[in-house]
Amino acid sequence: EDDEDLEIRPPVVTVMGHVDHGKTRLLDAIRNANVVASEAGGITQHIGAYQVAAEHEGIERKITFIDTPGHEAFTAMRARGAQVTDIAILVVAADDGIMPQTVEALNHAQAAGVPIVVAVNKVDKVGANPAKVRQQLTEFGLVAEEYGGDTMFVDVSALNNIGIDKLLDAVLLTADAGLDMRANPNKDARGVSIEAKLDKGRGAVATVLIQSGTLEVGDPIVSGTAYGRVRAMFDENGNSVEFATPARPVQVLGLTSVPRAGDTFLVTDDDRTARQIAEKREAAERNALLARSRKRISLEDFT
Ligand code: GTP
Ligand code: NA
Ligand code: MG
Repeated sequence: EDDEDLEIRPPVVTVMGHVDHGKTRLLDAIRNANVVASEAGGITQHIGAYQVAAEHEGIERKITFIDTPGHEAFTAMRARGAQVTDIAILVVAADDGIMPQTVEALNHAQAAGVPIVVAVNKVDKVGANPAKVRQQLTEFGLVAEEYGGDTMFVDVSALNNIGIDKLLDAVLLTADAGLDMRANPNKDARGVSIEAKLDKGRGAVATVLIQSGTLEVGDPIVSGTAYGRVRAMFDENGNSVEFATPARPVQVLGLTSVPRAGDTFLVTDDDRTARQIAEKREAAERNALLARSRKRISLEDFT
């Protein structure tokens, strides 16, 4: 692909960490402080991902946050071979320190080769010990810059909105330090379904993340075994959008069924191709299931 067609795209970030360490609160704090202003009439809604604007070295930059339960999304997507995340924010409560799911989360990120920024949360609490968190994490290869390592640690309070700007800065520094944040917007879109549901009035509603190309209303698409034509798209503010470029999450209407989290999607030349790909995949899945159940029966025959 032509180098000239590659354009800088925003980094895509997931928040992970132990239960109750403040992932949701942190995502809310980031969103409330920095979400790109909603047009009049737009209703902010949960679409599973959002984009914020952050000022970095005097320039306005965008960051995409995946706003689904970090762990599940990450593992489900990885299980389907989709890598959506560029950077993981590891949230560790400064009063609790590292816990089993902290380790699980960092293992996932390290296995995927995703750089980690540590948000040491709840620094407002009595008993908060951010230095201890830094010390504990050195054992897992996450050594703070101030201790001679190359992992950025930022003290935050999601509750009191402390350190949020610094955290976004650390994310952008990490992105710029060694990640290739480029994608070609000048072609048919490809990406990943982040979450999807069946809505009574609107049918299948899928939140997709564009990874390359530009998705447009009217495009025929296939995601896993779901297919259809993009009937409408909405951003995180509920505003209707006509097209979506790399790293932009959008809600897509028009699929005939609900894709699974982590199913990739692509735009096809026409509706028929989208349907044929979906049907082929569905048949393959049916056959695999059948083969598995046959195997079980024959095994039982011999025991
Ligand atoms: P799960 O999704 O259940 O794993 O939890 P979570 O990691 O999303 O944690 P959540 O954001 O729900 O926060 C858990 C609790 O900690 C809530 O009662 C929050 O209000 C509280 N909390 C989160 N951040 C802070 C903080 O910076 N300071 C204090 N004092 N409390 C916080
Ligand atoms: Na919680
Ligand atoms: Mg939560």
